[in-house]
Amino acid sequence: MKRYVRLGINIDHVATLRNARGENYPEVSEAAKIVEKSGADLVTVHVREDRRHINEKDLEDILNIINIPVNLEIAANSEMVNIAIEYKPKFVCFVPENRQEITTEGGLDVVNNFDKLKKILKSFSNHNINIAFFIDPDKDQLIATQKLGVKTIEFHTGSYANAFLKKNNVELELKKITDSTTFANKLGLNCHAGHGLTYDNVSSIVSINDIVELNIGHFIIANSIFEGLENSILKMRKIISETIK
Ligand code: PXP
Repeated sequence: MKRYVRLGINIDHVATLRNARGENYPEVSEAAKIVEKSGADLVTVHVREDRRHINEKDLEDILNIINIPVNLEIAANSEMVNIAIEYKPKFVCFVPENRQEITTEGGLDVVNNFDKLKKILKSFSNHNINIAFFIDPDKDQLIATQKLGVKTIEFHTGSYANAFLKKNNVELELKKITDSTTFANKLGLNCHAGHGLTYDNVSSIVSINDIVELNIGHFIIANSIFEGLENSILKMRKIISETIK
C-alpha cells in the first residue's frame, strides 16, 4: 500500500492578517473550515504568549467548527499548559518561544530543560492529549525526548528550508533530518516535520520514508492570496502524493 503522509495546515497567519488592522476578518474559523474541506488531516495553530496571531477565542471557535483534529503548538510553561488542558485539542506540540523572534527559530532544547519538561508532562498524564516535541534533528535531543516518554517529535526543517533558498548546504541539512529520522525510528519515535516548507522544497522531506506528518503554514497562507486557500492546499497535497512512490 502506498505510504500516506498526514498534512497539517497551520493557519496562524490568517490571524496575523486580521490583527494587522484590528478587524474581525479574515475569519480564522472560516479558514479552518476550508482546511477541513480541502482534505487536510489537521488544523495547526500556535497560541503564542504575546497572542500576536491566534488567541484562545480562535482556538475555541476552531475546535467548535471542525471535525478534523486540532494540533496546538505552545511554549512549555504553566499558562500555556492550562490553556491546552482547558481546550483539550487532540494534539499538543511543545515549541520553544522567544518574544523577539519573528517565528519559531529553533527546536526545543529538551536536553537542558529535561526536569522542567518532565514536570509539565506530568500535568498531561490524565488528559488524553497526544504530545509532541518540536526539535532540531539532533541525536541528544531525540534521546532526551525518548527518556521523557514522549512518543512523537516534529523536526524543525527551518535550516533545511534556508539552505534550499540559498542553494547552500542543502544535502548536509537534509542528511541531518534523514539520519535523525532513522535514529528516531530506532528509538520508537513517530517523526513529523515542519517549518519553511514550500511547493519547491517539500519533496525531499516527503521522500524520507519515516516522516508521517508535515505541518505547513506560512507558505500556504501566503500562496492563498494568489491561488486561494483550498487550491493551495490541494496543490501541496498533490505534490506530496506524487512524491510518494
Ligand atoms: N511546525 C511548527 C512546530 C511550527 O512552530 C511552525 C511555525 O509556527 C510550523 C510547523 C509551520 O511553519 P511555516 O509557517 O514556516 O510553514
